[in-house]
Amino acid sequence: MLDVRDLESGYGNSRVLFGISLSVARGEVVTMLGRNGMGKTTTIHTLLGIIQPTAGSILFDGKSIAGLQPFRICRLGIGLVPEGRRITPNLTVEENLVATARGPGPWNLDEAYRLFPRLHERRRSMGAQLSGGEQQMLAISRALLTNPRLLILDEATEGLAPLIREEIWRCIWELKKKGQSILIIDKNVDTLLQIADRHYIIEKGRVTWQGTSEELQSHPELSQRHLGI
Ligand SMILES: Nc1ncnc2c1ncn2[C@@H]1O[C@H](COP(=O)(O)OP(=O)(O)O)[C@@H](O)[C@H]1O
Ligand SMILES: [Mg+2]
Repeated sequence: MLDVRDLESGYGNSRVLFGISLSVARGEVVTMLGRNGMGKTTTIHTLLGIIQPTAGSILFDGKSIAGLQPFRICRLGIGLVPEGRRITPNLTVEENLVATARGPGPWNLDEAYRLFPRLHERRRSMGAQLSGGEQQMLAISRALLTNPRLLILDEATEGLAPLIREEIWRCIWELKKKGQSILIIDKNVDTLLQIADRHYIIEKGRVTWQGTSEELQSHPELSQRHLGI
């Protein structure tokens, strides 16, 4: 479904990615692991056309999406839950949800409210009035309402209280069971070992290790060395 080869990009004169290659197959849950500042978010931003690749290829369903504008890439079926949530503070929950909603697909307002009943209770509240956890539920629901074939989550559980975190993981499990393809960046390796099929460890803009959950589990030194766990 997603096939990235030798991707390079950066900001101005400073290169950040030095040849990232990764893939996500239909129905797969794949992670990008690595310490802060290694280039995970930059990879996502390059995939989505927010920053331009300087080399390499990005194929989505076999079609090159490198260089397309972000809204076009979104319309082709990639939904992002961005780092820092980025919900619109002066719109209500419901307005945030419908602003970018797109069919066809299984996700609509009712389905989002079923997934996160809390959002239904808060549907008339402004984005700015939400707690961090509610904002995160909104960010996830907003991405789902674009009915993406590939969902990308960038640090979706960061800075959340443990109970809210559990709720986010419950949602991701549910999506996985439905066969949603997911590319996920998160620091909770223990949970990711359970939920994900494959992993890429990113170090200084390069993939330094890739493998299955089983393989990662059998090399605990990897998590220690590259992830600081
Ligand atoms: N907007 C930006 N302008 C310049 N440098 C940036 C910008 N965003 C990130 N960087 C740099 O790119 C590198 C990778 O950052 P990032 O992709 O955010 O890492 P990660 O998501 O793995 O924590 C870091 O050295 C960071 O300082
Ligand atoms: Mg990041």
